[in-house]
Amino acid sequence: MAKLYVNEKKVQGHINPEIYGHFSEHLGRCIYEGLYVGEDSPIPNVKGMRTDVVEALKEMKVPVLRWPGGCFADEYHWKDGIGPKENRKKMINTHWGGVVEDNSFGTHEFFELCSQLGCKTYVNGNVGSGTVQEMSEWVEYITFDGVSPMADLRKENGHEKPWKIDYFGVGNENWGCGGNMTPEYYGNLYRRYQTYVRSYNNENPIQKVCCGANVADYFWTEGVLNTCFAQPQPGNHKDKGFMDMLSLHYYVHPEGWEIKGSATDFDEKIWYKSLNKALYMEELINRHGAIMDKYDPEKRIGMAVDEWGCWFNVEPGTNPGFLYQQNTMRDALVAGLTLDIFNKHCDRVKMACLAQIVNVLQSVILTEGEKMLLTPTYHVFHMYRTHQDAELVESYIADNKTAEGSDGEYEVPKLHESVSMDKDGILTLTLNNLSVTDSEKVETTFAELNPTDVTAAILTQDMNAHNTFENPDHVKEEPFHKFTVTEKGLSFTIPPCSIVSFRIK
Ligand code: AHR
Repeated sequence: MAKLYVNEKKVQGHINPEIYGHFSEHLGRCIYEGLYVGEDSPIPNVKGMRTDVVEALKEMKVPVLRWPGGCFADEYHWKDGIGPKENRKKMINTHWGGVVEDNSFGTHEFFELCSQLGCKTYVNGNVGSGTVQEMSEWVEYITFDGVSPMADLRKENGHEKPWKIDYFGVGNENWGCGGNMTPEYYGNLYRRYQTYVRSYNNENPIQKVCCGANVADYFWTEGVLNTCFAQPQPGNHKDKGFMDMLSLHYYVHPEGWEIKGSATDFDEKIWYKSLNKALYMEELINRHGAIMDKYDPEKRIGMAVDEWGCWFNVEPGTNPGFLYQQNTMRDALVAGLTLDIFNKHCDRVKMACLAQIVNVLQSVILTEGEKMLLTPTYHVFHMYRTHQDAELVESYIADNKTAEGSDGEYEVPKLHESVSMDKDGILTLTLNNLSVTDSEKVETTFAELNPTDVTAAILTQDMNAHNTFENPDHVKEEPFHKFTVTEKGLSFTIPPCSIVSFRIK
C-alpha cells in the first residue's frame, strides 16, 4: 500500500495556466485540415476554423497557443500571409514534406483562432532567415494602435483594432533548424532583435522568449545567458538578460532519434523505457534551472518548455514529413507524469507547449476529413485542467514501489502525483499509475481537511489502447467512484496503467 500525504496548508507556488499550453505549426495537417478548413469548406466552420475542433479545445481549456513554428518560424515571412487570399504568395514548406504552403492561414487567421479559443497568443518570430525590420514590423502590424505604416496596412486588410501578443519568441531552435548558430552568436542576435520587439501598450508588455536549449545542451544555456546578462555579480541580479522566458525542447523517443518506434505497436520493455525517458524531464528542469539560478536567483525569468511530447514513427502509409502519429495510453501516462513534473516545478516552469495540438506528434485531437477524435492525451489535459491557475500544495508519496518490465531493465517509480488548490479552496489531486500490470492501494491523508464533497475521474485501458475513427471512444475519461472518504482523507485502489483525478472539498 502507498501513502499519499497532502499538506494543503503548505502552498509551494502558483501554477501558471500557460504550463498547459499548446503548439501549432504549419506542418502536415495541423493548421490545414486540423484547425483551419477555410470558409468554403463543407466541414462546419466559423470563419474557416473547424467548429468541432474549436469546441473540443475550448472544453479542454487551451491557455496559450504557439504559432507558426517550430522550424517553420525561421523561414516564415509574415507579409506573405496577409491581404486578399488570392494574392498571397505560395511557398514550399521545405522542412515539412516539401508541400506547397498557400499562406491562406496567416496573422489574421491566427488571431481569429485564438479569439475563438479564448487563449493567449504566442507568436514565434524569424531570426534564422528574417531581418530585424521584418520582425519589428510584424509586431507593429499586430499591436500598434495609431497611425503608422504597419498599423495602416492592418486596417487596409480589414482589422481596425490591434491584437495582443502575449508572448513573442525571438527565433526557434537557433542551434539547429533556426540557423545553426553558436550560443554566443545567437545571444548577441537575441539582444539585437529583441530590442525592436516593442511593447506599444505599456500596460501589457509583450513577454519575450529567448531560444533555449535542446535536451541536455547545458553549454547552450550557459552561453546564451552569459551573453545576454551582465556578468552575474554577487548581490547584483537586477537585469533580466533582456528576456522574460528561456525555452527548452525535449521529446521522448524511446529508442533514440534514429529508431523512434511505432506509436501503437510496442511491448512492456518499450513502455517502461518511454516512461523512464519522460521522467528525464525533471533532471532537465533541475539542471537547466540551476544554470538559470546562477544568473537569475530570484526566478524572474520563466522556463518555457515550449516543445515537449512523444515523437514516434509516422503512421504507415502517411507522408513522413507530416509527423502524423497515433496516441495510446503510453502518451497519456507521459502527459500525466510530465504535467505533474511541471506543476511541481512551477516556481521556474512558467509555460509549456505540447507538440502539437492536432494531427502532428503527440496531439490531443486527430482528424480525418470531417471526422474527429479525442486522443488519450486530450483526456489527460481535460482531467488536469483545474490545476491551471491554482496553487501547488505540498504532497509526497511514501512507500512508493517501482514498476518495471519482466527483465527489470527500465524501472520507474510506480506512482506520480501533484496536488493544487484553486481560488475556491477546492483541491485537484492527480495521480498516475505507471505499472502495466499492478494496481496499488493508496491511503491519502490531508493535514487538516476532512473531505465533504469528492468527485473523481479515471482514464484507464491496456497500454497499447488508442482511439480510431471507427472506435473513437475506446479510451475515454470516465467517472471514478471506487473510493471511500476516511477520517483523515481518501482510500482507493488505482488500477494499473491509469490516471485518476480528484476534486476535493
Ligand atoms: O515539432 C516539430 C519540430 O520539432 C519543430 O518544428 C522544431 O522546433 C522541433 O525540432
